[in-house]
Amino acid sequence: MEINDDKISEIRKSVNIVDVISEYIPLERKGRNYFAVCPFHDDHNPSMSISPEKQIYTCFVCGAHGNVFNFLMDYENITFLEALKLVANKVGIYLDVSKNPNKIKDKFDDLYNIYDIANKYYQNNLHTKDGVEALNYLKNRGFTDETIKTFGVGLSTNNQITKLLKAKKYSDDILIKSGIVSNNNGLHDTFINRIMFPLSDLDGKVIGFSGRIYKTDDSSKYVNSKESDIFKKGKILYNYHRAKEECRKKKCVVVVEGFMDVIALHMVGIYNVVATMGTAVTNEQAKLLKRLSTNIILCFDGDEAGNKATLSCSKELESIGIVPKIIRLPDNCDPDEFTKKYGVDEFNNYLLNPKSLLDYKLDELKKQTNFSNSDEVSKYLKDAIIELSSVTDPIVKEIIIKRLSDDTNISMSTISGMLKNKKNVAKTEKKQIIKLNKYEKSERELIFYMIRYPEVIKIYKNNKCYFPTQEFRYLVNEIVHYCDKNSELIVADFLSYLSDKKELLNAFNVIDTMEISDNYTYEQIMDYINELNEFSIKVQIERLMNEFKKETDSLKKIEIAKEIQDLKVRV
Ligand code: UTP
Ligand code: MN
Repeated sequence: MEINDDKISEIRKSVNIVDVISEYIPLERKGRNYFAVCPFHDDHNPSMSISPEKQIYTCFVCGAHGNVFNFLMDYENITFLEALKLVANKVGIYLDVSKNPNKIKDKFDDLYNIYDIANKYYQNNLHTKDGVEALNYLKNRGFTDETIKTFGVGLSTNNQITKLLKAKKYSDDILIKSGIVSNNNGLHDTFINRIMFPLSDLDGKVIGFSGRIYKTDDSSKYVNSKESDIFKKGKILYNYHRAKEECRKKKCVVVVEGFMDVIALHMVGIYNVVATMGTAVTNEQAKLLKRLSTNIILCFDGDEAGNKATLSCSKELESIGIVPKIIRLPDNCDPDEFTKKYGVDEFNNYLLNPKSLLDYKLDELKKQTNFSNSDEVSKYLKDAIIELSSVTDPIVKEIIIKRLSDDTNISMSTISGMLKNKKNVAKTEKKQIIKLNKYEKSERELIFYMIRYPEVIKIYKNNKCYFPTQEFRYLVNEIVHYCDKNSELIVADFLSYLSDKKELLNAFNVIDTMEISDNYTYEQIMDYINELNEFSIKVQIERLMNEFKKETDSLKKIEIAKEIQDLKVRV
């Protein structure tokens, strides 16, 4: 069966969104709707409502909003097509994905196959006589046979994989692309005499390798295969696919810097761990972490680099609404060294008592301050107050003000005063950001009624107007287009239709979740349209004014002036 809008709608209607979401998170019924703690932000009260009537969910705090497919896409981190298949499978609808014109033909099959061949080959090497020394190294670091198997650890030897792959008739071009083979004066193995760790995508498919030295003192401890069409460092987390279930069970994810740390913690029975592989955490990785759990513990190396990484990762997480907790290990240890030195119980103590991000930041500020220098004390207080100004809990606030006062010998009332001033500034800044001008309000409200009432779309079609904001302009095009094809706009179906247009989906969510009256009058709609027309005329006038200023030909100037005059009459 081919996939088209009708089929998608049929699959969507074959399940109840309430049943599907309740397989993932607990729901509670209140009146006509169901409520849940939102899995898409650091939620403590149930902010997500699920409407059985509309078959959509909405989070009133973070704005997450969508139909059953959107939920699965975001929760499981899968594509629209995969979400569709998942639901279809649940109800026994057979989907022939190969007939879907949107399906990207797996043009990366060759790359996946190359990594698969290499992976098997490297793993086998470790158990041959060439592997004795490497295996010894691993055993010395505590690796068991089980660990080696679980993480697919292998060994690269000397220029063997290039030969092997060439014998399998892969082109030079694809071999170089894969990163396993390098080209300098002929093709060579990229990895020679290194212990090999396969790197996987979110589904566990191998997409690259990292190789560690074990018997030489080569300047680079690890070498990673270069990025390819399917391997982007900033888009994966080491161990994501293995840790996924455990993170959900434990309701917590631990983030470390190195994949050796992941493996070391695995060896002592801690499985809800992923690694960033030594680079700054990207926005995409932050979102992946959030998917694993909104309870995130950062446990980076105990050195200064680890401190920097902690702060930058926290910033990335805060930008998507998550406040992580922090573990700082003593003696510049990384988790691997720490568990070996002090044992797993000691590590678990840290895990059970992570610092709050605020405490961590304040401790760091304090460490950097020389308290006998008044300028530094002043800077310390100002920086601390910036951190403190986002705290809402009055008890935490009081505790910290007391602590700051003890540190600096400045009275608590002075510090409270500084905090108040800071807050007022922050408040006015915030207000300005969300204030919309009347045209922006008109366009949003007009679209709000368009998606609810086909008659409003008709009014709009008879009195076309211009939408000032680009994404809303595109959205209206889609709405009109959709309604030409389907007699009415069912929000839950329209969301499927938009599912691969992320920006429009966001624009749609902003509008669909607005809190204005569901009822409208014809005059009201015409008012919006007139406002928007007025706005577009104003924009035209402005443009002509600019032309007028630039124009040197006096006849043309007169023409432009006339045009401006004509437009001015209309507003
Ligand atoms: P670390 O230097 O902390 O390595 O780098 P580690 O995890 O402690 O490894 P061992 O214990 O010395 O074997 C953390 C991460 O940074 C990346 C790797 O992904 C590593 O896991 N890295 C580090 C590189 O890519 N290249 C390097 O040369 C070093
Ligand atoms: Mn280490």
